[in-house]
Amino acid sequence: ENEIAVLDDGKVEFFDVHGIPVEKEMLVADFDMEAAEKGGYAHFMLKEIHEQPTAIKTTITPRIVDGMPNLEECGLTYDRLKGYNNIFVVACGTAMHAGLVGKYVLEKIGRIPVTVDMASEFRYRDPIIAKGDLVILVSQSGETADTLAALRMAKERGAETLSIVNVKGSSIARESDMVLYTHAGPEISVASTKAYIVQLSVFYLLSFAIAYARGAISKEECMRLTAELQNVPNMLEVVLKTPDNCQYVASQLVNKENLLYIGRGLDYALSMEGSLKLKEISYIHSESYAAGELKHGTISLVTNNMPVIAVATQRELLDKTISNVKEVKARGAYVVLVTHGYINVDDEVADYKIGLPTIDDLLMPMLTVVPLQLIAYYTSVLRGNDVDKPRNLAKSVTVE
Ligand code: AGP
Repeated sequence: ENEIAVLDDGKVEFFDVHGIPVEKEMLVADFDMEAAEKGGYAHFMLKEIHEQPTAIKTTITPRIVDGMPNLEECGLTYDRLKGYNNIFVVACGTAMHAGLVGKYVLEKIGRIPVTVDMASEFRYRDPIIAKGDLVILVSQSGETADTLAALRMAKERGAETLSIVNVKGSSIARESDMVLYTHAGPEISVASTKAYIVQLSVFYLLSFAIAYARGAISKEECMRLTAELQNVPNMLEVVLKTPDNCQYVASQLVNKENLLYIGRGLDYALSMEGSLKLKEISYIHSESYAAGELKHGTISLVTNNMPVIAVATQRELLDKTISNVKEVKARGAYVVLVTHGYINVDDEVADYKIGLPTIDDLLMPMLTVVPLQLIAYYTSVLRGNDVDKPRNLAKSVTVE
């Protein structure tokens, strides 16, 4: 911010570019040193994947009062929540993928239009935003240059801004009108895992609250969904107890150079996150594709050398996705199907199934993401990569 800090034994002073001292408010970071150690895990990424149940509990518990979401800590009363005309979610990478899940959930139950943008596109596309709109900025670090620039633009245009941020006192948190902190603790691994899942959990609370405030769902339904969300950490513990299926899948992918992830609806949003996670740490080229769009071009890439990870947890779309899965299988692809544990899958549909416990389909992304994270993790380990510090990447992208 064009300032200079002089660090000395036990003191720090700030000056502007002309050497004039600048007064600063002292903020104490509640940083737990243990959180910055691997604590017996081989990598930070694996540790952070295992911290997810606790991170969700810490993030949602203080925001549930008498079984209902309560976001008043930042001024988001039910009255205020019902007043917005449009919602924009702006973020980068994994945080943007969390926004995509938020869009599906907000639109489905809240019946409010939601646009999701990559911050690098949003800031230059002259978006139509105005007073009465809510712009949500999502960022683990709170310092991502494009997201910060998008926040400043949204404020200039009169929209209200809400940030969902993990790092306390970061630039995006300080400059937005309202902030809902995620409480994931420090995320060290470049590949974001626990920050994503807590961003999802905040989007769920926000969606339930907006849906109830707008009269789109009843109080009973809002309480039922909130209770389902509170149940997620226990179910995640179950998912985390069986990593061997993901290790097996990783052993099948380790020598491949290309991969496809497919899904529909919420599963498509998840397949994007699975694909990003795999490519950034395993260096295997992968793409995610809306399953129904395959036959408009991309299916020509499918051979016996193109494994496909199909995500199919949305039961109203299950038949449709399975028919796409059969199409890729018929062209020789090795298929891994991520779906509900109770769903039986024939050999002609998939080569391997990862079965998940069942909760409301709307909340399945909270469970589905874990095997996708673990597949990326174990593939990276098997390829001998530096899992926590993948090449060419930085944890915090503070330049354009
Ligand atoms: C995720 O694994 C990435 N390393 C990256 O996409 C990241 O999510 C993105 O750069 C956004 O960072 P932020 O959440 O700190 O804004």
